[in-house]
This record gives sequence, structure tokens and C-alpha cells, in this order.
Amino acid sequence: MESTINSAKIMIIDDDVHMMDILSMVLQKYNYQVCSYTEPVSAVQKLKEEKFDILIVNYLIAPINGEKIVELVREFDKEIYIILMSVHKDLKPSIDTMKNLDIQAYFEKSSRFDQLIMLIQSGVKYIEQINRIKDMNLKLEKYLIDFANILLNTVGAKDHFTESHSQNVSKLAVEFGKRLNLSKEDLELLRLSGLFHDIGKIGIPDSILLKQGKLTNEEYETMKLHPIMGANIFGLSEVFKTLSPIILSHHERIDGKGYPNGLSGNDIPYLAKILAICDSFDAMISRRSYKESKTITFAIDQLIECSSTQFDKELVDKFVSYYNQDHSFITDIYPNNEL
Ligand SMILES: [Fe+2]
Ligand SMILES: [Fe+2]
Repeated sequence: MESTINSAKIMIIDDDVHMMDILSMVLQKYNYQVCSYTEPVSAVQKLKEEKFDILIVNYLIAPINGEKIVELVREFDKEIYIILMSVHKDLKPSIDTMKNLDIQAYFEKSSRFDQLIMLIQSGVKYIEQINRIKDMNLKLEKYLIDFANILLNTVGAKDHFTESHSQNVSKLAVEFGKRLNLSKEDLELLRLSGLFHDIGKIGIPDSILLKQGKLTNEEYETMKLHPIMGANIFGLSEVFKTLSPIILSHHERIDGKGYPNGLSGNDIPYLAKILAICDSFDAMISRRSYKESKTITFAIDQLIECSSTQFDKELVDKFVSYYNQDHSFITDIYPNNEL
């Protein structure tokens, strides 16, 4: 919810009861909602439970000083606007502390109160801006998801196999990535590149894409263009361009015999190597018009057989051991496939 100047919630932590009473009175006159604490531990607990816009904290307070309080608060709240107070300028925090703990303002108790009010008002404006940006980002994200779904439906309308294949590869890559302890950002890249890795097939003629039976050499060469076409589609997008190198390299092989660039070893992006394993695994265990599905065990054995040639050996070893530790890694995504 967006805060307005009149509804901003302020927490004051100070052991100087007299000062706190005056401060609370003045702030309430400005219609701010004020909550005061003389004891830091319960104050931090309250901040954990309830969202505040601004925190005013005394630098020298016991048993935990202001710096430590801010450190604790920053662990769970990166947005709250923090004003640190001290009795005298000789006792103020260092610039490094201000920077490291993201403290936005400093106030000396000896200064005039109206200066503190001005600091609070800039804090409220800052919070309003942050909330506006968050709203815009949410809208933008929604548009992007809509756009992504339109693209997926476009490919799905042409080739149903690609639609379910993309969804499975995406899910499997994310599950694999989670077990590899990848960052949230990398997991999102895997999720999206899984969904869109074959989007370039949109540019392959139906006579080749939907052909029943074996492709001729010439047709196969055309089919091999789909990673480049996919990478080009996303390369033009400011937001999605990070997917391009992953999409481009999802058919590269560790031994350099893949396509389109014949990259080998670590020249292949790490996320593309993960995707390649999930892509082939799904292709093996899925039924298509021209072939029956293979069992999960068969597909696992194939991955092992092709590690060091087609796939990264270390990654295949991990994939296999995650499966051996817990079959649900695979069976949750493929409940109907034979083991
Ligand atoms: Fe592909
Ligand atoms: Fe694929």
C-alpha cells in the first residue's frame, strides 16, 4: 500500500524518555503515526512483525547500540528509511557506517526540531517514490508474463509437442538448478530459457517442423538454425536479452561437435549446459508421433553414456545422484512415465 505524508508510520527507539515524549508529540501534530520504544530488543521484534516507513534511532543506546540495531533491522527490511540520532556531533557514526548500513539521514539532538521534521518529510517522499517504482515494476512484470504467454501459445498452436516439451524442460531445469544451489536470478533465467529454448522453431517451415519421419540432410541443416533464430528473437529485447546466449547454446556439446557454433567445454554457458541435459532428457522420455517414449532409467543411462562427449560430466553426475537420492526430482514432473 502506498504511504502518504499523513499516514507514514514512524518508529522511534531512544532511551531518553523526555526527548521521546517531545518528539512523539511534535510528530503526531504532523499526523504521523508514531510508535516509541525505549528498549531496542522489543523494538526490533515489533519492526519484524509490522511494516514501518521510517525508523529514528538513537546512536548511543543500551544494551545494543544504534549501529547494531540498524544492522539487525537491515537483515529483514532493506526499505525502511533510517534516521540516526546522536546527542553530539563528536558521537556521530562514521561515513562508512552510514554507507554500509544504508542509513539515509543523521540528526543531532542539539539541532532544531524543524530540521528533523524536514528529514522525516524527505524520508516520506523517498518511501513514496520506492512504492511507485514497485507498483510500476509489478505492472511491467505482468505485461512481460502476458507477452511471454502469447509467444508460447504461438509456438504451441503450430507444434503441440514443443509446447509441453518447453514446459517440462523449464520445470526440470529449475528443479535441477535448485539442487545445484543456483541464485534466484539464475533459476529465473533457467525457467524462462527452458520455456523459450525452442522458440526459434517458429521460423522453421511446417513441412520440416511437422514432418513425420526422418529429415533429409538439407532439412536437418534448416532445423539446426532454430537456436540462432531463438537467440535473435530475444536478443532484440532489452528485458529478455540475457536469455539469448543460453538459447543460442542449448545444442552445443562439450566435445565441440554441437551446433550452431561448435563451442566446447567451458566456452558453453553454464546454464546452457544445464538446459542441454534437461532438453535431451525430456526428448528421450517423451512420446512423439514417430517414436515411443523411453523409460526414465534408459534416459539416465544415456546421459551417463554421453557425459564428457555431449554433456558436462560433472553436471550429469550431479543430475544422476540427485535422482538416485530422491526419485521425486524427476517423477514429480513426469508422474506417468515408466521408471
Ligand atoms: Fe532445441
Ligand atoms: Fe528442446
